[in-house]
Amino acid sequence: MTILILGSGGREHTFAWKIVQSPLCDKLFVAPGNSGTAEIATNVNIKVTDFEAIKTLVLEEDINMVVVGPEDPLVQGIHDFFLNDDQLNHIAVIGPQKAAAELEGSKEFAKEFLFRHDIPTAAYQSFDTNTVEDGYTFLETLNAPYVLKADGLAAGKGVLILNDLNEAKAELKSMLVDAKFGDASSKVVIEEFLDGIELSCFVLTDGKHYKILPTAKDYKRIGEGDTGLNTGGMGAVSPVPFATDEFLNKVEERIVKPTINGLQKDNLPYKGFVFIGLIKVGDDPKVIEYNVRMGDPETEVVLPRLKTDIVEVFKAISEERLNDINIEIDERAATTVMLVSGGYPEAYEKGKEITGLQHIKDSIPFHAGAIIKDNKIVTSGGRVMAITSYGNTYQEAIKKSYQNIDKLHFDKMNYRKDIGFDL
Ligand code: AMP
Ligand code: GLY
Repeated sequence: MTILILGSGGREHTFAWKIVQSPLCDKLFVAPGNSGTAEIATNVNIKVTDFEAIKTLVLEEDINMVVVGPEDPLVQGIHDFFLNDDQLNHIAVIGPQKAAAELEGSKEFAKEFLFRHDIPTAAYQSFDTNTVEDGYTFLETLNAPYVLKADGLAAGKGVLILNDLNEAKAELKSMLVDAKFGDASSKVVIEEFLDGIELSCFVLTDGKHYKILPTAKDYKRIGEGDTGLNTGGMGAVSPVPFATDEFLNKVEERIVKPTINGLQKDNLPYKGFVFIGLIKVGDDPKVIEYNVRMGDPETEVVLPRLKTDIVEVFKAISEERLNDINIEIDERAATTVMLVSGGYPEAYEKGKEITGLQHIKDSIPFHAGAIIKDNKIVTSGGRVMAITSYGNTYQEAIKKSYQNIDKLHFDKMNYRKDIGFDL
């Protein structure tokens, strides 16, 4: 088969790494890809939302399967674009259709889905420019901290958690009236604050059947001890030690099953990954959010633990026979530490040469914001590279990642030295 991956991050390098291990994959393209995917596949410089250019590539190269990494093309309806085109509708697309991608595209849509299907989540109300005053009144009924979420996609920046009521009111106004996050905040969801520890659960579905992948925990803040600004993710650990069998059983019964049944009841066509952001409140799981794709850097610890041929899994998803597949998981732990550009998540420089990769022996460097320029690997983004390791325990794995990071260098390289500190 000829396969195309859309995206350019550590997640997509990990997908590529896993896909090229499959005997079913004859040729792999990545659009646009990065320096990591360039080593094992053919990069094509096309934007993930340029559907016409993707169509041309798919037809020219006789591509049989498209694996969609990020949310943007899904929310913009890439799967529907393929289904509605006579030349493309036989091609397998891994990722939900537009109607289902609204689970990530709109926080309000996701909350309505959760409540309609009785899935545990925080209480909420949503407000728009006409109901700002009602929003203030609702905030007054809540206790601090206040959770404000821009309804639409805001590149992971649309959630604000505020301790002060007046500040929360001011931010609500800035989101709704001053369009702080542009169109994404023309509606705002205000939620009850949930106090607990977070983890993520990843589910594969063909729309009818589901398989649960290993859990992971990511570290979102830039600073040690979970301090400072939010990032795309600074590291991850899988499995999550506090996710006991008893807890995971609750997740499956109370959250995964009603989610998959809900998709069917609501006629939301879904062939792909459901990423469920969870919070453990006491002993019980509640849903913080849905994403309609894999997480990054969670992919860098989840896929390395999947022993099953991922292309077989994708084929089964597209043919709606996921129930035929036996998902085998590596018992070892996997951890990843993200190397980032100094300054990230605020302003940072690019084009710094990355050296030392040839010395890495017992970790896997998944490239993220890195490209090849003049035969050198140079930084091209904030999150540069995820260093993944296996271990009999997560502590052993994390030690290996840090030992290998010591062999790597680029100007102003930064990373968190405490991944896994809270487990
Ligand atoms: P989201 O984009 O919905 O995942 O929100 C980003 C982050 O905000 C989450 O990972 C949580 O850390 C936090 N968060 C979101 N909703 C809540 C909530 N209701 N209670 C507490 N923390 C929350
Ligand atoms: N690491 C969080 C995400 O991919 O959304």
